Amino acid sequence: MQGARIADLDKGLSVGLGFRRALAESLFSAPSGSIDFVELAPENYLGFGGPRRRLLQKAMAKWPVIAHGLALSLGGDDKLDPVYLEELAQFLSDLGTPHYSDHLCIGSAHGRHSHELLPLPRTMSCARHCAERVDGVSRALGLPMAVEHVSAYGSWPEDELDEADFVTEVVERSGCGLLLDLNNLYVNARNFEFDPYEMLNRMPLEATLQIHMAGHERRPDGLRVDTHSEAILDEVYALLAEALKRTGPVPILIERDGHFPPIEELLVEVEQIRRIANGVFFAG
Ligand SMILES: [Fe+2]
Repeated sequence: MQGARIADLDKGLSVGLGFRRALAESLFSAPSGSIDFVELAPENYLGFGGPRRRLLQKAMAKWPVIAHGLALSLGGDDKLDPVYLEELAQFLSDLGTPHYSDHLCIGSAHGRHSHELLPLPRTMSCARHCAERVDGVSRALGLPMAVEHVSAYGSWPEDELDEADFVTEVVERSGCGLLLDLNNLYVNARNFEFDPYEMLNRMPLEATLQIHMAGHERRPDGLRVDTHSEAILDEVYALLAEALKRTGPVPILIERDGHFPPIEELLVEVEQIRRIANGVFFAG
């Protein structure tokens, strides 16, 4: 039942919202059909009972759910815990998620989690390492994996590849999908002064399984910080219109993690995305 509902997401346009506990009540009371799916991080629910478990069940009863992880540290060296992967596989199967995604980053080392998505050295050897880990995770979970490129505020002296080439290397070597985050791309383009369209056009867009949209903060010194706490910028909507020409209809998600506005404001963003996608897929 859940799987059938999820499968429908890929047949046409679907726009969802990140399921955050601070938003949950207003989301449940929004008119039905306001959103097509929700996305959540298993780390916030796996192993929890009580009110959190009930909240998850209520969300699952109302919408298709896509899972998006934070904790795999795909670029790190810590061995992936087989017991955790087994529990995660069961959780994802119960959820009915069509794919699983996590970030091309390092988030833990020597068994300690930083709770940050730290950028990787963009080298061929790191891309190979990520591809092997993504492949291993995908096999362990029995699900297609997608990798998300992260926003960054520094780079490594070892860097050999730019963002698009690094992501392409991981995607092509592992055969995994891409989670295209257009806000991350835009934040990096402003902070590292590259052309977001040029970078976008060299991303492996045909492998896209899902898109993320979000807003960010601009500090007084000009630094863009990927807070997910502001409205989506027009420049990021414009990148979406460009990207959709090659990705085709994939689930598009709005990530909002702070300065939560009334739900109506987020639904205006949902509608804006629907308008853009309809313009790309159905106009003329
Ligand atoms: Fe994202």
